[in-house]
Amino acid sequence: MSEYSLAIVRLPDFVHFGAGSRASITPSVLRYGRRALLVCDPFLATTAEFEVAVTTLVAAGVQIETLTDVVPELPVWSIEQAAEAARSFAPDVVVGFGGGSALDLAKLIALLLVHPGPLSAYYGENAVPGPVLPLIAVPTTAGTGSEVTPVAVVSDPERELKVGVSSPYLIPRVAIVDPELTFGAPAGVTAYSGIDAFVHAVEAFTSAQRTADFGAELPVFVGNNALSSLLALEAIRLIGGSLRRAVAEPGNIAARTEMSYGALLAGMAFGSAGTHLSHALQYPIGALSKTPHGLGTGVMLPFVMQRAVVSSAPELARIAAALGVAESGRDEAEQAQAAVDAIAALVHDIGLPSRLGEIGITHEQVGRIAELSLSVKRLAANSTLPADPETFEQILVAAISGDRDSLKPKVVPK
Ligand SMILES: NC(=O)c1ccc[n+]([C@@H]2O[C@H](COP(=O)([O-])OP(=O)(O)OC[C@H]3O[C@@H](n4cnc5c(N)ncnc54)[C@H](O)[C@@H]3O)[C@@H](O)[C@H]2O)c1
Ligand SMILES: [Fe+2]
Repeated sequence: MSEYSLAIVRLPDFVHFGAGSRASITPSVLRYGRRALLVCDPFLATTAEFEVAVTTLVAAGVQIETLTDVVPELPVWSIEQAAEAARSFAPDVVVGFGGGSALDLAKLIALLLVHPGPLSAYYGENAVPGPVLPLIAVPTTAGTGSEVTPVAVVSDPERELKVGVSSPYLIPRVAIVDPELTFGAPAGVTAYSGIDAFVHAVEAFTSAQRTADFGAELPVFVGNNALSSLLALEAIRLIGGSLRRAVAEPGNIAARTEMSYGALLAGMAFGSAGTHLSHALQYPIGALSKTPHGLGTGVMLPFVMQRAVVSSAPELARIAAALGVAESGRDEAEQAQAAVDAIAALVHDIGLPSRLGEIGITHEQVGRIAELSLSVKRLAANSTLPADPETFEQILVAAISGDRDSLKPKVVPK
């Protein structure tokens, strides 16, 4: 199949990146009206940057209401409650200011202010029937890419796993990515959100190439395609080169800037391609171990890609080049292995656990985790590996003890 047989990108109307770009919050709001609901992480609501944003909006004649009740993990009741509280204010536009949690909350409030609840009516892909309120997304972590993606993730006590609401209608109209807003993020937040962005890029780049005739309605996530690959590879290069420095030296402006740009590109890439097994496996692992999303996807990535070192060899060889570990004279399989080793080194160097056992996952839980991961069909199907319990269990067993070698291809004696 030609690498140009499929190319899809869906984006906000405006993407504004750069130091100081937060000055464009007010003119962006004024494009959509004069009543703005600001959805802000409670910690960030106390910062000088947020205060300036509020003062500037008010000075421009914008009526604002601020909502800072971002409940961790976004339980569905908290989203429905927040939307109800905002209804009487009747905003023209919703501004999300914060990490992925605040941005996802802003997306779902913008949805529920236009379409009737319950939120569960919109779980899954393409269930949102039409446009939501105009959204402006201002991320303060270099991580999720939610400012450009068509998805928001919530937890529902009725379900064992977090669920996604995925629809192109959830793509914000404006993304304002100002790296200066991430400068205050502590090392743990920088590491977890940063490695998640890296996983987005690697999984978008190594997702399956789909050949199906999609028909009239495109799925939200279509797998590896020409445009997502372009964005993903650049994101891998940028994040691979800057994440260690951003974690070790929080004041390193160059590293912070490259991380924000890399996370933005990674979001654009996985916004059409989707992610795959590190994400499918993180859902139950996160629920069982109560660990952050990025920690789980980061711990799993070296094991997932080790198992895929043959099925994704051409893509991994290109990742080796992007990470600067490709050496001339090596064949494709050796380059692919060098990429997986470099991924594992990055995860290690930023202080993530090197095995699932360290976050309390046990061998007894393997069967159940595999079963639940397989139930996230969209992610399971997006991998080049077989979507079967054996493959998932093999990856999990290796990850529990940190034994990547057990996943390496067996050399057949001549
Ligand atoms: N919609 C998407 O495309 C998408 C993609 C991946 C993950 N997610 C979701 O996003 C969430 C994770 O988002 P996240 O990693 O950005 O973290 P987060 O939004 O959950 O924030 C984590 C912590 O970091 C703090 N924080 C954020 N920015 C800060 C800053 N500049 N300075 C100091 N502290 C700061 C917050 O106060 C919070 O305590 C998860 O719920 C995950 O499911 C969504
Ligand atoms: Fe993620």
